[in-house]
Amino acid sequence: MPLLLGVNIDHIATLRQARYGRNPEAAHAEPSPLVAAWDALAGGADSLTVHVRSDRRHMQDADALRIRAEVPLPLNFEMGVTAEMIALALELKPDFACLVPESREELTTEGGLDVVGRFAQTQAAVARLQDAGIRVSLFIDPDPPQVEAAARSGARMIELHTGCFANAADSDREAEIARLAAAARAGQQAGLQVNAGHGINYENIARLWTVPHLVELNIGHSIVARALRVGLTQAVREMKNLMAAYPAVAAASSRSSISDSPAVAAASSRSSISESPAVAAASSRSSISESPAPNIPPPP
Ligand code: PXP
Repeated sequence: MPLLLGVNIDHIATLRQARYGRNPEAAHAEPSPLVAAWDALAGGADSLTVHVRSDRRHMQDADALRIRAEVPLPLNFEMGVTAEMIALALELKPDFACLVPESREELTTEGGLDVVGRFAQTQAAVARLQDAGIRVSLFIDPDPPQVEAAARSGARMIELHTGCFANAADSDREAEIARLAAAARAGQQAGLQVNAGHGINYENIARLWTVPHLVELNIGHSIVARALRVGLTQAVREMKNLMAAYPAVAAASSRSSISDSPAVAAASSRSSISESPAVAAASSRSSISESPAPNIPPPP
């Protein structure tokens, strides 16, 4: 089972909002998150992530609803733990919901959810969503108490926050990888699907290959940035190509517990999706001139 790629397309909406924030629904409002979703599918994305923030700074409710209705990829809805977002999730019915902390001041999600400190609220949100058939992931720092609380909350998945790893000075990076590896082992032992995300890019990704049990990586910023050079479809394809190096043995060890995941099912039927006319149209739309792949340093 290959490592799965969830593509976060929030930044497509960030750019649109910079110009069309007052009228994101206008026919000429560009770039379109919906078109980006098709382009990501054409590049081999295994799922899409959209985060409708309470301040609606990038994705709008209508974006999420259209992508859900029209694009045949599993949808991961990133959301704050609020009544408003739970109601939207129940309307949207994504395949997954990833619960994240959210504060207005932050530029992007900056820390993991404090499941230990907000246990009752988190547990109630998990139950509400999973009762509606939405598999829940908790975005947490790679700390044992948070992993343990995540398992107790009833959530089926965790997404390990890789931001500290991504921002670490060279001298601290091994320690951050060790933290991630320990948390991944603890998560897998607790029966959780282990995903990871935040700050992963084309250069640092290979350093994660010593972290066991990873099932899916969620990546946004670096793919959208790379898309400015090569187009989104190609940027996704390049990231997927790098991810093919993830040791099969690490992915295989958690295979049995995740075989019911929609992303896993979609990955195995990828060939039929990629033959659809809409995907063919999306591929040709984004066949922007090829530029060389970024220099990827060898794994440590
Ligand atoms: N995972 C979560 C929970 C996020 O909030 C984000 C975006 O901030 C990402 C993954 C993707 O992070 P990045 O854009 O740095 O790849």
